[in-house]
Formats: sequence, structure tokens, C-alpha cells
Amino acid sequence: MSTSLTGTTALITGASGGIGAATALSLAAQGASVALVARRKDRLDDLAARIRATGGTVLAIEADIVDRLQATAAVEQTIAAFGGLDTLVNNAGIMLLGRVSLIEPGPVATELFTHIRPEILEASREAFANATLLHAEDIADTITYVVSRPARVVMSEVLVRPDGSQW
Ligand SMILES: NC(=O)c1ccc[n+]([C@@H]2O[C@H](COP(=O)([O-])OP(=O)(O)OC[C@H]3O[C@@H](n4cnc5c(N)ncnc54)[C@H](OP(=O)(O)O)[C@@H]3O)[C@@H](O)[C@H]2O)c1
Repeated sequence: MSTSLTGTTALITGASGGIGAATALSLAAQGASVALVARRKDRLDDLAARIRATGGTVLAIEADIVDRLQATAAVEQTIAAFGGLDTLVNNAGIMLLGRVSLIEPGPVATELFTHIRPEILEASREAFANATLLHAEDIADTITYVVSRPARVVMSEVLVRPDGSQW
């Protein structure tokens, strides 16, 4: 049976439990060949057996992704086994609760637009047809504001949109 991810490959880090294991099962159920990466190989092997039992294609790779060589080797092993890599789910990790802020700018008038491919430029023109472009200084202001809050205040996500944008 052909499903939405048949013929594609995915590598999931942190696949020995939690969200990573569930994601590996889900992608495999949609037909993706999945490479499972984590440090606890016994757990990867158990999950690989479950996926194989349902007809899936799977590779279990023991690696500590903090070690760049092991992380690179895991990717290379996946490509060698499956002939390519379409999806990387870079999920491994522990939840570090710190002062991490995500600042997402809308379109900003910088040299970026001279560096991107024409078709993407065309799509972004349509999306931002009636929008005013932001200035680089608008984003700089936002960053400065976010990082200068009192210690008790953490701003985790800021979306900066130009006036008139539709998104
Ligand atoms: N659970 C939440 O509430 C929550 C909320 C927001 C975001 N997240 C994020 O979602 C991701 C998965 O979380 P989870 O709840 O599924 O956590 P989890 O159940 O603790 O699973 C973490 C996975 O990461 C792997 N891992 C940890 N360090 C690794 C390393 N150095 N190299 C290779 N694999 C490593 C662990 O496998 P091994 O120990 O076998 O290596 C395990 O498979 C994390 O990045 C977490 O920050 C979680």
C-alpha cells in the first residue's frame, strides 16, 4: 500500500522514547524508511522490531548526538542504508528552561532579497504585496528590548509584522 511518505526517508534523533519514538512510529506508518538515533540501543532495537513487524523499513543507530562525529556518522549511515535523507526530526534533548527567546521577523528591507532564488522572491512578493517592509533597526530594537527585560521577565516568542501584512 502506498502512503503519503512512501519512498521517503527520515532520521529521528531521540527516538528511544517520548516524542521521538512516537514520531518514528507515525512516520513509518506513513511509509517512510526511518533511522532511529539515540544512546540507549536496547530501546531503539525494541522500537525497530515493532516497526519491522508492521512491514516498515528501519535502522537503529546508537549515537550520542552531542558528539559531532557520532552525529555526522549517524547521518552518513542513514544515507548509505536508504540512499538519501528527506526529513530530519532533530528532537533529541532535554528541556533546558532558560532565557531563550524566539524572535520571528516578517519581511525586512535588507540585502536578503538579492540573495534568494527568483521563484521564492516571486512568492514572497505575492504574500507581502500590500505590506510595508520592516527596517533592520525594527528587529534590532526588538532584540534589544527582549534581552534587556528585568531578570523576572522572559519573553519567549515575539512575532514582528509590518503594518498591512495579511499573515
Ligand atoms: N515533554 C515536554 O513537555 C516537551 C515540551 C516541549 C519540548 N520538548 C522537547 O521535545 C524533545 C523530546 O522530548 P521528550 O519529552 O520526548 O523527551 P524524552 O522522553 O526525555 O526523550 C528524549 C530523547 O532524547 C534522547 N537523547 C537525549 N540526549 C541525547 C543525546 N545526547 N544523543 C542522542 N539522543 C539523546 C533520549 O534518548 P537516549 O537517552 O536513549 O539517548 C530520548 O530518546 C526534547 O528536545 C524536548 O526538549 C518536550
